[in-house]
Amino acid sequence: MVAEAGIQATAALYRPGLEGVPATQSAVCDIDGQRGILSYRGYRVEDLASQSTFLETTYLLIWGELPDAEQLAAFEQEVQMHRRVSFRIRDMMKSFPSQGHPMDALQASAASLGLFYSRRALDNPEYIYGAVVRLIAKIPTMVAAFQLIRKGQDPIQPRDDLAYASNFLYMLTEREPDPLAARIFDACLILHAEHSLNASTFSARVTASTLTDPYAVVASAVGTLAGPLHGGANEDVLTMLEEIGSEDQVEPWLDRAIAEKRKIMGFGHREYKVKDPRAVILQKLAEQLFDAFGHDPLYDLARKLEAVAADRLGPKGIYPNVDFYSGLVYRKLGIPEDLFTPIFAIARTAGWLAHWKEQLGANRIFRPTQIYTGYAARELTPIEAR
Ligand code: CMC
Repeated sequence: MVAEAGIQATAALYRPGLEGVPATQSAVCDIDGQRGILSYRGYRVEDLASQSTFLETTYLLIWGELPDAEQLAAFEQEVQMHRRVSFRIRDMMKSFPSQGHPMDALQASAASLGLFYSRRALDNPEYIYGAVVRLIAKIPTMVAAFQLIRKGQDPIQPRDDLAYASNFLYMLTEREPDPLAARIFDACLILHAEHSLNASTFSARVTASTLTDPYAVVASAVGTLAGPLHGGANEDVLTMLEEIGSEDQVEPWLDRAIAEKRKIMGFGHREYKVKDPRAVILQKLAEQLFDAFGHDPLYDLARKLEAVAADRLGPKGIYPNVDFYSGLVYRKLGIPEDLFTPIFAIARTAGWLAHWKEQLGANRIFRPTQIYTGYAARELTPIEAR
């Protein structure tokens, strides 16, 4: 009787997807989903996107305060010095199937870093700093390397005279990017850098809580980010816009999708009940790119979809999320669709590492409970009698 009451009490606490359940304490990021406000360490994401750089924001997320000029210069220089990856990792990537998804290539290559830097010392601040620097420096190099390797080319070495975002675009496209394009790309990285306890960050914290190494933490988070309900939605948005095809098809397409109970990619968020503030900024960045480098008719289609969806889905609190406009920005920058999620991972590595460090500071291994729904005790029938 007592046990049954306990089981009922546990069942009453159960929330599928842990919706609304606090699973950690964190000082990294705050989301006000009713008012559409996102802040990192107390700073509004709009201010960071317009006045900071991705590396400065990374420093803020991980160490809790904005760096002074000297700290930032030292961090930038360390990252720059660690951008190269071992020829062994490049050789390993050459053996990956070229038609494989770049997120899978990234997960495998991020995990392989643990083989090269295996002297784990989680209580040593210098080890933490070194691991942060390595991961922030090498993840973009590995994403760009796989892009060239799968085209049958040799990866391009990073260029020391280029800043973080410019260098990544250079390694990817073999061309030094336009400064406006690089600045906008850097702002995209800032916008994707952190978002509290989303699925991949939760995954990172669970992995971190076992006191394994940071490369395993990032590799597990990359695997979690890859799914279409999380980071993978950004490439699906473009596929969806292409499927809709033209502005006059938006209304019938949306009505059909809603009637078939299909999810509209790039819409909806567990936390936001208004338009995602990152979507607002990304939309402006997309417009700046179109002004400078030419219009994209898919943008008109996207805006029409947003307007029509406001009537149909708005009353349920479903509005564009970060993924809705990011794909259009990346497309204008000439980035292939299946690299959108790896780019999300480049940015989110900053957030994952901030949570890794925070988890280590007050660690208790994650070990939730479950509600058992299986058989009661059964007799085992020998195989010849089954
Ligand atoms: N299109 C149509 N209906 C939706 C959508 C959508 N995109 N999102 C939620 N709904 C409806 C859903 O059908 C359900 O309706 P009902 O109660 O009538 O059955 C209700 O809203 C609640 O949906 P849910 O799936 O239980 O909500 P959730 O909080 O579990 O899911 C989400 C959040 C982001 C997974 C979901 O909105 C979704 O699948 N969106 C599309 C994929 C997407 O854009 N993902 C990127 C998320 S933002 C970046 C990131 O975190 O990676």
